[in-house]
Amino acid sequence: MQNHKLSAALLLTIFTLFYSCETRKPLYRLSTDSPDGKIKVAFTLNEAGEPLYAVNYNDQPVVLRSSLGFDLEGQPALAKNFEVTSAKRLHGFNKSWEMPWGEKRVVENNYNQSIIQLTEKSGLHRTFFVIFMVYNDGLGFRYIVPPQPNISEMHITEENTQFNMAGDYKTFWGPGDWDIYEHLYTTSNINQINAFKYVNNGLAQSHIPNNAVNTPVTMITDNGVHISLHEANLTNYSDMTLLVDTINHRFKSCLVGSDNHKYKVIGRTPLYTPWRTIQISPDAAGLIESDLIVNLNEPNKLGDVSWVKPMKYIGIWWDMHLNRKTWEYSSGKHGATTAYAKELIDFASTHHIQGLLVEGWNTGWEHWIGFEDREGVFDFVTPYPDYDLEEVVRYGKQKGVELIMHHETSAATQTYTKQLDTAFRLMYKLGIHAVKTGYVGKILPKGEYHHGQYMVNHYQQVIDTAAKYHVMVDAHEPIKATGLRRTYPNFVSREGLRGQEFNAWSADGGNPPEHLPIVAFTRMLAGPIDFTPGIFNIKLDPYRPDNQVNTTLAQQLALYVVIYSPIQMAADLIEHYKNNPAFQFIEDVPVNWEQTKVLNGEVGDYVTIARQDRHNNNWFVGGITDENPRDMSIKLDFLPAGKAYHAILYKDAPNAHWNDNPTAYEIEKMEVTSTSTINVHLAPGGGFALSLME
Ligand code: NOJ
Ligand code: CA
Repeated sequence: MQNHKLSAALLLTIFTLFYSCETRKPLYRLSTDSPDGKIKVAFTLNEAGEPLYAVNYNDQPVVLRSSLGFDLEGQPALAKNFEVTSAKRLHGFNKSWEMPWGEKRVVENNYNQSIIQLTEKSGLHRTFFVIFMVYNDGLGFRYIVPPQPNISEMHITEENTQFNMAGDYKTFWGPGDWDIYEHLYTTSNINQINAFKYVNNGLAQSHIPNNAVNTPVTMITDNGVHISLHEANLTNYSDMTLLVDTINHRFKSCLVGSDNHKYKVIGRTPLYTPWRTIQISPDAAGLIESDLIVNLNEPNKLGDVSWVKPMKYIGIWWDMHLNRKTWEYSSGKHGATTAYAKELIDFASTHHIQGLLVEGWNTGWEHWIGFEDREGVFDFVTPYPDYDLEEVVRYGKQKGVELIMHHETSAATQTYTKQLDTAFRLMYKLGIHAVKTGYVGKILPKGEYHHGQYMVNHYQQVIDTAAKYHVMVDAHEPIKATGLRRTYPNFVSREGLRGQEFNAWSADGGNPPEHLPIVAFTRMLAGPIDFTPGIFNIKLDPYRPDNQVNTTLAQQLALYVVIYSPIQMAADLIEHYKNNPAFQFIEDVPVNWEQTKVLNGEVGDYVTIARQDRHNNNWFVGGITDENPRDMSIKLDFLPAGKAYHAILYKDAPNAHWNDNPTAYEIEKMEVTSTSTINVHLAPGGGFALSLME
């Protein structure tokens, strides 16, 4: 499979460096600063010829000298005995670009860059480049292994990129699971990280072989600097988890592997690794506002993507998680029927909802969860007898509602790959432009993991096929987001966290109130989240007596602004929306934004975000809190001066509480301007939503 590419200009620079005779004398120290001078990255080569890097922020060390390199199968490690055979700094790149959809329209892209070539002084004389890109909101670096006599196919058994943190920082982490990201976060210092406590915690497809964490992993230094480690442009490689050295508070890359071969990544030269990223901000809010991850990806390769349409959707979905209906046909309470789909289309079309997801429409659901032999079971073109796909599509079109196709693969990747083209051609023929994919269960073929190179390439194959047929993809049980939405704007959203569904059925009490105030500063830094907000029937009565959502209803509204996705579900049963005035907010809130401002926030505690509609001057604000109540004063100084706005505030009632009184909310209407301040009380597990319309 073809690899990711640098821009043509950068490639040219690299190859000119590589092949030019004007290589410079060995350099032992090279510093690259961010444009504002606050971040300084020092590259050094020590006496053993080991390449190292270190990072300072405001003249304080945040990452101490950390090593770089690889272990290879059948060859000595690329680790030491190097000299610098060329080095070049390119300063002052500054050119903004536009997102076809996103948290903002215009993205600033301003960085300084260094390219360093390292060559072994003896032996195989192997060579590679390290590129550092340093922005005001953090840095990224990647390795490039060019074509050369002694490396053609690389069998990488491990990447040895260290992140040697300058202190035992407070860390918000989840385990480095090779198969699933759906764990709760833990807050602890680095020296207390123990990923093994997550083993056997009830997730069937989990595999946690090391004391490692998943990325994005977010930390706060003793001086209050906020740091998040992640990666950008994960293409034809495997997911990087971070091994933890608790004593020395160091992280080291630990790639997701496979049981089917010794190497974790196989690649031909020129080989480009993903960017290893370090977001740095003086406060928590700056992490959310950072554009580092998308900036480190390549521009849109799909050209005109006017068929990618951000939208809200409802679905035949929560019914199944509540066990009110089933995916499978044979139960006698099948959810995906033509009649029910039409009822939902009627509701959507009268409430400004553009999409309808129908799960359980196709044959195979009798044989998915819990079965080993899942290949050859699911079929992505054949509906159950009580579901007339073409009729539902026709009815939806007539009412202005488009179907979201559903492909649950049950992680039987070969069956899916075989049918991929046929399945997407059907969507194209029917004029369906969105699909939700799913990968529940252990990966087939056996020995592969959801986050390994095999699956990274599988997910990409789906994106490529979808693009060919003008379909946008929302992947569940996905590979983590690394900013590829910039390059492939049809990869609109994904799960990759503990979503709302856990509140319906998990045996551990669901997502605690602090979950989303952590997610906003960890998982959300990676990219859009299909969290599926909007549950109004918080106690899930009468369907799930032992489960509930652990937030107030007002917080469910806030999530449409706080948790970003260009496709947002109104996840509850429509009967819980009918005649509930709070639903007006879901009707009004858009899903595509002109700009985003994080008004306040502390990781794990609370966050408030304001976003401007992409299509007009309306603004929407959402604020959420953990289990602690809070009082906030929200200054509306982000509004244009001198304009009057109609404000509608949806807030927790004074006695609201996520457990004791979750559905108590109040609606307040006001006229406001940019000089107004809104004072609002957030209940324990609560939140507020504010619409500001002209
Ligand atoms: C897990 C997904 O997260 C969920 O949204 C979906 O309903 C089920 N798989 C079935 O595909
Ligand atoms: Ca899931």
